[in-house]
Amino acid sequence: MQRITNASLKQLNSFGLDSTAKELVLFENEEEIISYLDKYELDKYLILGGGSNLLFLNDFDGVVLKNNCTGISILDQDNASVIVESKAGEEWDNLVRFCVDNEFYGIENLGLIPGSVGAAPVQNIGAYGVELKDVFHSLIGYDLINKVKKEFHFDECNFGYRESIFKNELKQKILITSVRLKLQKERLFKLNYRAIQDELGNLNKDELTIKDVYKTIKNIRESKLPEVSKLGNAGSFFKNPEIDPEQFSQLKSKFHGLVAFPVDGGNYKVPASWLIEQCGFKGKKVGNVGCYEKQSLVIVNYGNATGEELFNFSKTIQETVFEKFNIMLTPEVNIIQ
Ligand code: EPU
Repeated sequence: MQRITNASLKQLNSFGLDSTAKELVLFENEEEIISYLDKYELDKYLILGGGSNLLFLNDFDGVVLKNNCTGISILDQDNASVIVESKAGEEWDNLVRFCVDNEFYGIENLGLIPGSVGAAPVQNIGAYGVELKDVFHSLIGYDLINKVKKEFHFDECNFGYRESIFKNELKQKILITSVRLKLQKERLFKLNYRAIQDELGNLNKDELTIKDVYKTIKNIRESKLPEVSKLGNAGSFFKNPEIDPEQFSQLKSKFHGLVAFPVDGGNYKVPASWLIEQCGFKGKKVGNVGCYEKQSLVIVNYGNATGEELFNFSKTIQETVFEKFNIMLTPEVNIIQ
C-alpha cells in the first residue's frame, strides 16, 4: 500500500485534469486496505476506479482510494455457461479480452470501454445493445459504514440505464472488490445496432467469430471516440434522455429530422448527440474545451482546461438544449466537488 499526500490526480482521470488529493492511497491487496479502513475514520473520501467517468471541479480535499487489485479467474462452469470473477482494479477491457480469448459470450459488445471492472456495475456500463446487468452474477464489496464484507446479487443492485444502487443509496459506501459475470459458452451475438450492421457489411464472412465481433466494436469505437491519451475526455458526457409519446410527437412535428428509439414502457430515447448537434455545438471549441468533432456527446479537454471550464461548458450545452427542445440533459459523468 502506498500513501501519498498532496498527490496529483492528473494521471488518474481521463479528462487529464491537474487536480490534487489531500491524500492518495494506492492499494494492491484487499487485506491491507480493509485494515486501513478499519483503523481510520475518513471524513471525506472518494473510491476511484479507472477515473474515466468523473470530473474534478477543484482539488479534492479528502482521501482518494485507488484500487489496483487485479486478477481474473473462473469460479464455476458447466457445459452451457461459466462464472468469471475479476478483481475490481482490473482494467475492464482486459476482462473483455479474457472472455473473447476463451470464447465466453456476452460482453464482446462492451469491448474497449475505458475504466475498471469495479466501476462497471456502479454505472451499469453499456454499449451497442448490451449492458453489464445482462451478464451480471454478483459482486463482493466492503461496506465502509458497517465495516463488513458483503455479497450483492442482481436483485439488490437496482440496475437501470447508467444507474445502480452504488450510484444512489449506496454511493461511495461500498468499496467493490470483485465482480462476477455469468457468460455463455454458446455463440450468441447482439448485432442489431445500425453501426454494427454497417461495419459488418465490410466484412465478408459466413460465420462470425467472437474475435470478429470484438474487432468490429473496436473499429466503430476508434472511428467515433477520441483516444484518452491524445485528447482528455470521459466518453459520453450526458445520458440519452427519455421522453414520453406526447413530447415525442410535438417535437417530431417541429423538428422533422428527430430520430428516437422506442424503449420499454412506451417512451422514446432521443440521442443526446443529435440534440447537441442541432444547437450548433458539434466540433465547437471554446478556450480549452469543446465538443468532439465526430461525436458531440463527448466533451474534450484540448489542453490545459480546468474542471470548472469543462463544467461551465457542459452547463451552456444543457441550457441551450433546454431552450430549444425543452429537454434537460443529465450528466452521465460524476461531478466531484
Ligand atoms: N440506438 C438504438 N439503436 C440503434 C442506434 C442507437 O436503440 O441502432 C439508441 C441508443 O441506445 C442510444 C441512442 O439511440 O440511446 C443514441 O445512440 P448512438 O449510437 O448515437 O450512441 P451515443 O448516444 O453516442 C451511447 C452510449 C455510449 C455507447 C454507445 C454505443 C450513452 C450516454 N452513451 O452513445 O456509451 O458506447 O451508445 O452503444 O448512453 C459512455 O457511456 O460513455 C459511452 C460512450
